[in-house]
Amino acid sequence: MSSTTSNGISGGPDGHDQPGGASRRDFLGLVTAAFAAVGTAAFAWTLIDSMNPAADVIAAGAPMDLDISKIEPGQQIIVRWRGMPILLVNRTPEMMATLQNKEDVARLADPDSNVNQQPPYAKNWHRSVHPELAVLVGICTHLGCLPGYFPKPDPSQPVENWPGGYFCPCHGSKYDLAGRVYKNVPAPDNLPVPPYEFVNPKTVRIGQNPTGVSFTLGEVVQL
Ligand code: FES
Repeated sequence: MSSTTSNGISGGPDGHDQPGGASRRDFLGLVTAAFAAVGTAAFAWTLIDSMNPAADVIAAGAPMDLDISKIEPGQQIIVRWRGMPILLVNRTPEMMATLQNKEDVARLADPDSNVNQQPPYAKNWHRSVHPELAVLVGICTHLGCLPGYFPKPDPSQPVENWPGGYFCPCHGSKYDLAGRVYKNVPAPDNLPVPPYEFVNPKTVRIGQNPTGVSFTLGEVVQL
């Protein structure tokens, strides 16, 4: 099991370009390779390695427990679950405020998450169980690149009318910090939200719904 984190910025455009037209299978292979090559952050290794079942168990689709207590405000970590990059962000109050900014919300294609891209407990303005923690599948709904995480816009890569969030370098799709896609970009849908639950206030279990809820990523419209 490998992972990567970059002090709040991961998946930047420079590190994840891929040839235009690459298939999703190609992409997932690239992601796997990227994790193997980039998974050097001691913090993330400690965080994830201490709580996970064996890699072969995870690969088989077993739920995966993560200690989220060490994710700094504004920081993103990426873990791999079922071969997919799962993005977890400890959202600050300022980041949560941008999710409710009316001007920004008006620019979103599906601000209320009406398209089935998330479990029912994430069909809300923050697309998560708790507003403070984002849990998303990091696969652009256009052709499957890994969107870059930008808590704020990067002055070196200006993007119009965008307060930060996720930007896909492949064809220019932009999302907000809840993975909600903007209008008039190539990506058609919001980033998927995987099934997950809080085991306790410090621990998230990826791959398992809260009691009484049935949801799998096989149900989403675009993955
Ligand atoms: S893969 Fe085309 S914009 Fe993301």
